Amino acid sequence: MLSKKKVYVGFAADILHEGHINILKKANKLGVVTVGLLTDEAIASYKNLPYMNFAQRKAVLENIKFVKKVIPQKTLDYVSNLNKIKPDYVVHGDDWKKGVQKKTRQRVINTLRKWSGKLIEPKYTKNISSSSIKNNIKEIAFSTNNRVSRLSRLIKVKNIVRILESHNALTGLIIENTKVLKNNLREEFDGMWSSSLTDSLSRGKPDNQSVDYSTRINGLNEILDVTTKPLVFDGDNGGRIEHIKFLVRTLERLGVSALIIEDKKGLKKNSLFKNQSANDQDSIKNFSNKIKVAKESTISKDFLIIARIESFILGKNINDALKRAEAYSKSGADAILIHSKEKNPKQILAFAKKFKSSKFFKPLVAVPSTYSKIYEKDLIKNGFKLVIYANQLMRSAYPAMKKTAETILSNRRSYEVEKNIASINEVINLIK
Ligand code: SPV
Ligand code: MG
Repeated sequence: MLSKKKVYVGFAADILHEGHINILKKANKLGVVTVGLLTDEAIASYKNLPYMNFAQRKAVLENIKFVKKVIPQKTLDYVSNLNKIKPDYVVHGDDWKKGVQKKTRQRVINTLRKWSGKLIEPKYTKNISSSSIKNNIKEIAFSTNNRVSRLSRLIKVKNIVRILESHNALTGLIIENTKVLKNNLREEFDGMWSSSLTDSLSRGKPDNQSVDYSTRINGLNEILDVTTKPLVFDGDNGGRIEHIKFLVRTLERLGVSALIIEDKKGLKKNSLFKNQSANDQDSIKNFSNKIKVAKESTISKDFLIIARIESFILGKNINDALKRAEAYSKSGADAILIHSKEKNPKQILAFAKKFKSSKFFKPLVAVPSTYSKIYEKDLIKNGFKLVIYANQLMRSAYPAMKKTAETILSNRRSYEVEKNIASINEVINLIK
């Protein structure tokens, strides 16, 4: 007769492999197996989004003969599900005794103790893991379509999506690979911002559309060639309405995930210049039409068109910004970037507060270049879903390079700069 003991297994189960099957087989021998399947939100809280969404992963697991039931596990932590189910056993590979899951494991043991449940830890199946499989199939999984849709998926499941400026392939790689461990969670950037400012600067030109789209798109290709994360394109004001559909199609075909266009007209001037007197804002009607045409030109529903409002930059008030936000939202914008060049975030927070209660609310995008003291958690609280660090890699590289040039000149040799620069060994081994 089958044992009626209750067994709980927590899984992300994105790419199912023999390691998972080993665990499920053992679990099934102990009793009736419930899988607590980590939701996309739970997974994204500590590592990359899964390739398959929750429903897809659930469909696979439900059809495995060792599994009786699949329920969502909404956090990395097991405790709330365990308290609900009160399983006799939890089964997990012994690999979590070390590393980021150590604390989670301890909490499982403590919780099970309340009803004399037991943690069973079969030996981890060597040389196989979702991560190693993922590395092998990265190139397939990050096909263009997959990459385009990644940003919209991230916006749905993360509390904030972090984007950092990239002006060439090397900066793209920095964004792709930089990770820090904070409170046992792995923090990383979710994608790249192709900034008109730093794209122009890196070519020695002003940010006034002297660098045309074709040139910028060539640069994009180089970034997209060596990275897998989503890219957001700064399209200035989108150019002529008649040309927008070609811009959208080119970007989407390349694998870009979003186009941001701003509601200014005439010769473009960077928004952070103090004097904006020569800059003019487009009419609501014209710009709404641009948004509509851009949205209609997309092929995938996941390619995002984001409307950028320049009212605050041009000295207009919150009512103007709100009126525009509602109109652009109605015209199909997927998100609203509310820009400001104030040192203080009050302006954009006041806007967010009001826009939040509008029936045309759309996720908000912030570019905290001048109000850089703001923490992501405060943006999250106010309805922001995307934060773009728009120029910091360029701004860190420029003074470092200038200082190096000056030091060599004043010493008439390069020895003095050695201590502040990457070693030759490091740079020749940087790209494998
Ligand atoms: C850019 O990075 O080019 C931007 C943001 O558009 S800003 O510089 O603030 O205008
Ligand atoms: Mg720009």
